[in-house]
Amino acid sequence: VSLSVAVAGATGVVGREFLRVLEDRAFPVGSLRLLASERSAGTRLPFAGDEVPVEALGPGSFAGIDVAFFSAGSEVSRRSAPDAVRAGAVVIDNSSAFRVDPAVPLVVPQVNGETAGLHRGVIANPNCSTILLVMVLAPIERRVRIRRVVVSTYQAVSGSGAGGLRELERLGEAEREGREEAPAVYPKPIHRNVIPFVQAFGEGGLTTEEWKMVKETRRILARPDLAVSATCVRVPVLRAHSEAVNVELQRPVDPDEVRRWLAEAPGVRVEDDPQTLAFPTPRDAEGGDDVHVGRIRRDPAEPRAIDLWLTGDQLRKGAALNAVEIAERLFGVGPLAGPRGAASRFP
Ligand SMILES: NC(=O)c1ccc[n+]([C@@H]2O[C@H](COP(=O)([O-])OP(=O)(O)OC[C@H]3O[C@@H](n4cnc5c(N)ncnc54)[C@H](OP(=O)(O)O)[C@@H]3O)[C@@H](O)[C@H]2O)c1
Repeated sequence: VSLSVAVAGATGVVGREFLRVLEDRAFPVGSLRLLASERSAGTRLPFAGDEVPVEALGPGSFAGIDVAFFSAGSEVSRRSAPDAVRAGAVVIDNSSAFRVDPAVPLVVPQVNGETAGLHRGVIANPNCSTILLVMVLAPIERRVRIRRVVVSTYQAVSGSGAGGLRELERLGEAEREGREEAPAVYPKPIHRNVIPFVQAFGEGGLTTEEWKMVKETRRILARPDLAVSATCVRVPVLRAHSEAVNVELQRPVDPDEVRRWLAEAPGVRVEDDPQTLAFPTPRDAEGGDDVHVGRIRRDPAEPRAIDLWLTGDQLRKGAALNAVEIAERLFGVGPLAGPRGAASRFP
């Protein structure tokens, strides 16, 4: 197999990660078209020992393309994904443009990979924090029904793209030099701070990011009734989102059992030993593929509930890696195409 691949938003933090993931996994890239705004036309990005020029994205950009990875924001996806589909490409979209459209599969291959085949041209890659969360919830839900999930996130600045990374650096530098600088990307300074607000406010006092976690978790787990409560927080970490999660189950479960289920789950790594101070931090997850889990314990206030901590690189499993895994499954290439993918059916 050899596929013609396009990356829309190639110059962004997710776009650049796409190039690394495609290369790391030896995805069968026959040809590669890199697309971004007119500002970046002519820039060259490294891929597989070569330098690939970036072109301005336009209606004719997708001729001959088999698979188009979109990571250029919702507006670009809404405008250009239909062009790509008309040109015969499958679009795997990282924005939130199509995630709640019931006709568009919302896919995490290890959880509901079988739904990818139902697409009509577009497949949505879920929200980054939600992907990390369902990777850990699904192996539990397969054994014991989940009643309620309460999650607080600790989200890295690269989750806001290149602008978030620059803002943390700029505010830190200004403070070290004794200058006052106003925040631009976030409503409050992110340097030496945490901000209980991600993206925008929505209905009921929740942020739009919190609503994504509620709605997308229900959709991916095929549990429209699931009680999910989320608080999304931005922290001055460069890369890898973390989450503190309380999972209330149908019946009490031994934390050792949960540890075993998670240790067996593909794409999940358990690091959990109070004796040796083993627990994962975002720096452990940076640049890697697994969702790391630790601090697995019984909730002392509710015997049916388990508390845990997880962290994962949101530019990889939360974005580019998950999208490439979807393509691998769809085109029957790579590790998830084999029996492991088939065995990961959910529920
Ligand atoms: N960052 C994350 O952790 C993360 C995780 C999951 C999903 N996502 C989603 O991925 C998308 C990209 O995020 P990012 O973090 O990579 O942002 P970013 O670093 O700001 O990159 C944005 C990319 O979009 C391109 N772009 C912007 N406007 C465009 C236009 N009008 N036409 C064509 N290209 C345009 C930019 O091109 P120029 O360089 O030419 O401006 C750049 O390549 C967003 O939809 C985001 O919600 C991000």
